[in-house]
Amino acid sequence: MKKKCLLVLFSALGIGAYAQKSQKTIDQKVSELLSKMTLEEKVGQLVQYSGFEYATGPQNSNSATVLEEIKKGKVGSMLNVFGAQETIAFQKLALQSRLKIPLLFGQDVVHGYRTTFPVNLGQAASWDLGLIEKSERIAATEASAYGIHWTFAPMVDIGRDPRWGRVMEGSGEDTYLGTHIGLARIRGFQGKGLGNLDAIMACAKHFAAYGAAVGGRDYNSVDMSLRQLYETYLPPFKAAAEAGVATFMNSFNDINGIPATANQYIQRELLKGKWNYQGFVVSDWGSIGEMVPHGYAKDSKEAAEKAILAGSDMDMESRSYMAALPQLVQEGKVDIKLIDDAARRILIKKFEMGLFDDPFRFSSDKRQKEQTNNPENRKFGREFGAKSIVLLKNQNNLLPISRSTKTVALIGPFGKETVANHGFWSISFKDDNQRIITQYEGIKNQLDKNSTLLYAKGCNVDDQDKSMFAEAVETAKKADIVIMTLGEGPAMSGEAKSRSNIHFSGVQEDLLKEIAKTGKPIVLMVNAGRPLVFNWAADHIPAIMYTWWLGTEAGNSIADVLFGTVNPGGKLPMSFPRTEGQIPIYYNHYNTGRPAKNNTDRNYVSAYIDLDNDPKYPFGYGLSYTQFKYSDFTVSSSNLKGNQTLDVNVKVSNMGKYDGEEVVQLYIRDLVGKVVRPVKELKGFKKVMIKKGETQTINFKLTPEDLKFYDDELNYDWEGGEFDIMVGTSSQEVQTKRINWIK
Ligand code: GLC
Repeated sequence: MKKKCLLVLFSALGIGAYAQKSQKTIDQKVSELLSKMTLEEKVGQLVQYSGFEYATGPQNSNSATVLEEIKKGKVGSMLNVFGAQETIAFQKLALQSRLKIPLLFGQDVVHGYRTTFPVNLGQAASWDLGLIEKSERIAATEASAYGIHWTFAPMVDIGRDPRWGRVMEGSGEDTYLGTHIGLARIRGFQGKGLGNLDAIMACAKHFAAYGAAVGGRDYNSVDMSLRQLYETYLPPFKAAAEAGVATFMNSFNDINGIPATANQYIQRELLKGKWNYQGFVVSDWGSIGEMVPHGYAKDSKEAAEKAILAGSDMDMESRSYMAALPQLVQEGKVDIKLIDDAARRILIKKFEMGLFDDPFRFSSDKRQKEQTNNPENRKFGREFGAKSIVLLKNQNNLLPISRSTKTVALIGPFGKETVANHGFWSISFKDDNQRIITQYEGIKNQLDKNSTLLYAKGCNVDDQDKSMFAEAVETAKKADIVIMTLGEGPAMSGEAKSRSNIHFSGVQEDLLKEIAKTGKPIVLMVNAGRPLVFNWAADHIPAIMYTWWLGTEAGNSIADVLFGTVNPGGKLPMSFPRTEGQIPIYYNHYNTGRPAKNNTDRNYVSAYIDLDNDPKYPFGYGLSYTQFKYSDFTVSSSNLKGNQTLDVNVKVSNMGKYDGEEVVQLYIRDLVGKVVRPVKELKGFKKVMIKKGETQTINFKLTPEDLKFYDDELNYDWEGGEFDIMVGTSSQEVQTKRINWIK
């Protein structure tokens, strides 16, 4: 017996020591490698260039010198290089360098890779963390099979301004939802951990508060209190750091007068200091060099100095680091320790990814082939697309449409679009046009054989040409039902796509009005990467679905909902304004001293004299083909003290004739606080499938942790007092119970 125990003990110690040794081995190997590296080779690890065929920013690199620099060990990473053969070719160049340090290949794998999924705001509308995580798992598997080690995602910027085109790639206006979605994405990308062949490094971006650009104008300034920064914009990043996201990317904007790229407070004091973050920070495309136009550095040398001092470890595409850092170290302006720290952080990731064991391990024609047009991935994409659709209106249950409808007309500029369905952040592949299911094909696939599907483009997306109206009207007249497909083109949201006017562009609304004059029943599909303004349609068209841009299987996803194979259950992750003048509008606003009593109250209250107060569609809103009834809403106590748990229960009954998914939402309101508190804060949600006629009891648990907030001295704590507890089907349709919770 004794011997056995000893054996167990030694083996435990052995494993412990080995694990310790293996972890020590990476740190030790990095130290040994650093000790051999010249200053220039160390700086080389801090340099990242873009590939040549495919740029995602204003191209700086000169391909001829880049290849030479790679051979000399003066480049640590490339982005926009993908595919087994291309990554092998670049890696071979890197292995010609003196120390044979392999390259990291980074890519914007933002909403899928070979198989594309709904744009991220659309994914957020699914409120389905499982689907979101699985989509990133698939994206990581596909991307890693194409030789990619690292994705510049998840984008976890909170976005309250739909004029900002990049709300498309985020999770909307709410910090709680955005944080949980960001964590699901990181789990999906990094899978069972770096080093696994299907795991890629994730990247929390854009650090920080990029979504709060003044005027919703991309790259514009951000100016806010630290309290607002901590309360609304930093939590998704803090959670990502705590969850072990491999990298961070900083943002183009200045924050309270200091560009994020050189912001010592957020990168050094907060991220690498208080949060003790051990990964590395890559600058956003050229953002180091952009400190010169920011007026924060007189030249790129000073920009390089300020960036490295502030903890920007890798220089994407500005060419400032290689040009200036060796000299700055020699001049004593930059301590070599900063270079060592940055290089160490990057080298650790290369070891963790197993690239020193086998630099080519991710680049395999065989795996690439397996992950090209993988039918399982497409099948998932079809499901994910359908579950991202939000049903905004369905008067007289016009939807779902019968497959045996004799004649259906699809009218609008997006009906036969292929690549548009990819959305903004997608890699274009040669076979794109063949492999993407258009809306027309999707509908055609599901209509009965003896039904007829007509199509007319009707108008272009963004011009004044009405010459196709007549044909569209004639087409509509032949149909029993018209499906209109309008919205914004995929290149009208995304990076550098801010819009001052988010109404339907061009003559789309005029076309809709002409088609409506035929008297035919109309279903409107809105394709967009952001909330749009379409009040006339909202008030006059009987059925409206928000279909975002849904990816490779878009047409099938849409048809699944149109014909009722899938009962839509999406909920809006952003408030939809009535007009641009109402922006910013978000559900978790403060009450003010003169809150409007209702939607039309304008009498000396915080309101516009020329506009109703509520958004056109509120945060958390979305309909179903069935109807859900909320009842028996209870709280376990109306009086709590200290560290207790509050049980919140509500019964949800499916009263209609379709099984359906409902996102049950839990909100709180802290009535009085050391600082003013939002009228509502999302603190939980559950997406449940409830069969027709069935009732389910949904339970939430709240603890004092859920009541915490940042006060004016940045203390994160909760206060006792009265709270409203709310449950419901949207941020506007809730039942409320008041409780007292003393500390
Ligand atoms: C772009 C984007 C960033 C992206 C990077 C690389 O400018 O701001 O989100 O990851 O450059 O493409």
